[in-house]
Amino acid sequence: MNQPHAHLIWTDDETPIARAFDDPYYSLANGLAETRYVFLDGNDLPARFFPAFEIAELGFGTGLSFLTAWQAWDRSGHAGTLHFTSFEAFPMSPADTARALAPFAELRSYADTLVNWLQDPFMPIAPNVSLTICQGDARRTVPAWDGQADAWFLDGFSPAKNPELWEADLMKAVGTKTAPAGTFATYTAAGHVRQKLADAGFDVQRIKGFGRKRHMSIGTKP
Ligand SMILES: C[S@@+](CC[C@H](N)C(=O)[O-])C[C@H]1O[C@@H](n2cnc3c(N)ncnc32)[C@H](O)[C@@H]1O
Repeated sequence: MNQPHAHLIWTDDETPIARAFDDPYYSLANGLAETRYVFLDGNDLPARFFPAFEIAELGFGTGLSFLTAWQAWDRSGHAGTLHFTSFEAFPMSPADTARALAPFAELRSYADTLVNWLQDPFMPIAPNVSLTICQGDARRTVPAWDGQADAWFLDGFSPAKNPELWEADLMKAVGTKTAPAGTFATYTAAGHVRQKLADAGFDVQRIKGFGRKRHMSIGTKP
């Protein structure tokens, strides 16, 4: 790792909070169900999976969204490889990653594999999954990426606390780096975020959010 690790605070229920953003990495209650609802259902996955499907993500954090996608890929029984590329400026240490993922018992074997891989990220993580974490500020690394995502997980901290990850130019780069008929999903329904994603070329929809959250956003590139 050529960058300092994220500094965390742990709540009494073991939820990690990023000190620099004063925001939790996942929902305090039912993080796994929310991740499935927002990012899998929001991108119509696993229904849209096909061999060599490419997911891209803003904010790798604990890796929970990645593990959720990986488990869904395994369960879907698809042949071929799932490609997952995540853009992360402040990577968590392997020890903090292990601690953050410990509550998700059904993902234990995936989490163990990820924590080992983080210590030697030049090996393939699994025969049917390729994981790439692009370290650095996403405003620089996304425009420089030579991939095209079939689905985006837009998972910055809240737009009020982490405005850098929701800037118009970055949303434009996300649009450019989306394959035809590709999609995005995000937990936020902030009007300025939806407008930026519409300006980036997506047909944007506001839909029911997870649990007690009123709304979230999804979109498709025509
Ligand atoms: C809500 S967390 C992501 C949670 C993650 N998807 C998970 O499954 O745990 C937001 C992430 O965005 C990262 N981040 C914040 N600003 C960034 C930037 N400018 N470029 C890249 N990553 C950034 C943070 O370090 C943090 O890991």
